[in-house]
Amino acid sequence: MKVCVIGTGYVGLVTGACLAQIGHHVICIDNNSEKVVLMQSGKSPIFEPGLDEIMQSGMEAGRLEFTTDLAAGVAHGDILFIAVGTPALPNGESNTRYVEAVARGIGSHLNGGYKVIVNKSTVPIGSGDSVRRIVLDGVAEREEKIGGFDVVSNPEFLREGSAVYDTFNPDRIVLGSHSDRAIAMMQELYNPIVKREFVADRNLPQVSVVVTDLTSAEMIKYAANAFLATKISFINEVANICDRVGADVTQVAKGIGLDSQIGSKFLQAGIGWGGSCFPKDVSELIHAADDYGYEAQLLKAAVATNQMQRLVALEKLQQVLKILKGKTALLN
Ligand SMILES: NC(=O)c1ccc[n+]([C@@H]2O[C@H](COP(=O)([O-])OP(=O)(O)OC[C@H]3O[C@@H](n4cnc5c(N)ncnc54)[C@H](O)[C@@H]3O)[C@@H](O)[C@H]2O)c1
Repeated sequence: MKVCVIGTGYVGLVTGACLAQIGHHVICIDNNSEKVVLMQSGKSPIFEPGLDEIMQSGMEAGRLEFTTDLAAGVAHGDILFIAVGTPALPNGESNTRYVEAVARGIGSHLNGGYKVIVNKSTVPIGSGDSVRRIVLDGVAEREEKIGGFDVVSNPEFLREGSAVYDTFNPDRIVLGSHSDRAIAMMQELYNPIVKREFVADRNLPQVSVVVTDLTSAEMIKYAANAFLATKISFINEVANICDRVGADVTQVAKGIGLDSQIGSKFLQAGIGWGGSCFPKDVSELIHAADDYGYEAQLLKAAVATNQMQRLVALEKLQQVLKILKGKTALLN
């Protein structure tokens, strides 16, 4: 199938290179021309195990290209992925201006046959509909006839550091749309991954594909990250209680993690959660709930526990080092 991926960060570049590896014809677009020149030489701007290799094999096979030319990408792709960043604004909401800019660009270049526009970025709930409206506005400004389009939410769950592995071995693929036609095209796109055609162990069961409406797919991404962040805050709270009662949180985590209903992952007590996704996704969900008149008390408590946990780490340092004056602790 013909694919265009707009935004080549962790998500877009890995998605584009992996889709080329499974046989699709992919054009990756980025508006950072230095990055594009580097990728055109077969080098990835980020370090991800296996990424350079699949980029080079895709390029040698003539199935993977990099350009800044959005018009060319939109003309090429039957499926257009939006994979630009959605950083947090100071008030906790996600900044959707990059997604909106890409939607406007797609609207002004859309022509030819039917297209599927895919929100791969983690976008606030309702963004699928706003992308649709922005693209329609762009199309309406022109006289050209287009073959129609639908929007799909296809959230990403890869982990930085094992992004290529995760793309070929997903726990599930989530597809949200009101259009059966768009869902069918997405299922065809991912079929080789669903059937495990590109992993060594071919006896694994097929990857589960969760088909939902647009809004539920958007919510799945936020709910997944909010759950994992809350799980970490939970074990940190348990750790703080353990410290007081004389229990060892490592043993406690092992003891509860072996319960298959709980699971051992995300039960390592420590300094708290951070990274590029958890803080912004949890605060966006709290913000969205507030917008709809609901106070997300549990999520707010998870955030508060997380912020407090950094101070717990400082107190422990003080117990060991005694004097912290003159030492630098980076809290961000
Ligand atoms: N990084 C992760 O581990 C991860 C995991 C799951 C989901 N996500 C989500 O995926 C989305 C992308 O994340 P990322 O980490 O890949 O972002 P990133 O910031 O690494 O990359 C975004 C890319 O988009 C490009 N870009 C911005 N505006 C553009 C435009 N108008 N046209 C073309 N290119 C443009 C930037 O130059 C950059 O290369 C975010 O919504 C993020 O929350 C990220």
